[in-house]
Amino acid sequence: MTVTIHDLRAWKAQGRRFAMLTAYDFPTAKILDEAGIPVLLVGDSVANNVLGYADTLPVTMDEMLHHTRAVARGAREALVVGDLPFLSYQVSLEEGVRNAGRFLKEGGARAVKLEGPQVELTHRLVDLGIPVMAHVGLTPQSVNAMGGYRVQGRGDDASRVLEEARSLEKAGAFAIVLEGLPSELGAEITRSVEIPTIGIGAGPDTDGQVLVFHDLVGLSERLPRFAKAYADLRTTIGGAAHAFAEDVANGTFPDTDHSYRN
Ligand code: KIV
Repeated sequence: MTVTIHDLRAWKAQGRRFAMLTAYDFPTAKILDEAGIPVLLVGDSVANNVLGYADTLPVTMDEMLHHTRAVARGAREALVVGDLPFLSYQVSLEEGVRNAGRFLKEGGARAVKLEGPQVELTHRLVDLGIPVMAHVGLTPQSVNAMGGYRVQGRGDDASRVLEEARSLEKAGAFAIVLEGLPSELGAEITRSVEIPTIGIGAGPDTDGQVLVFHDLVGLSERLPRFAKAYADLRTTIGGAAHAFAEDVANGTFPDTDHSYRN
């Protein structure tokens, strides 16, 4: 059955935890959807994981829509969330609305995610029928302002992040990503809001957990401390390529089983 934003809220009320994964292409989305992952995020992390950019800042609306369309074609049941890229929603409310709308209208997403305390825009989008997933704590689009990918909300800073989460809930966000926070703060925010929290590096007590697909399957060059690789595709793919090249070099591929005859 198709997963909706209301399911996520019901799951929180029932104490049922759930997983979200990033997806950037059709075959991966299909596999993850068939594996029962209920939420697929077309993250702006496509920038560094797929497109070879150093961080998420350069990725464009057109690139994000291209990947979102592919994921939407592969997802039958999962809720597909499109991630608004840097500078697509910060300049004006009008631009934010237009770009968020494009994810639903052209990308086939059923919700959008945006970083930081974008309270007014969240309100406006929700009023217009565009579901919003909020994202607080370590917000990678602000890497330069943060001076690096640093854990947020330590000590006195905790109340700022908690207030941001509360105000985004009030503005109508249906869920909130908590990234790079002390576990205690991840737990406190989760207790303080009625919408589901989805953690990444925010400890074990959030309602959901999200991982970047490339970290999950061992394709990332460097695994962040908070991530866990459940497979080693880097070695598998490298091994397959190596074996193929050897078979070609020594003439054992293609053999008669992989060739046509008259
Ligand atoms: O773009 C992304 O992958 C994200 C997740 C880390 C939440 O925003």
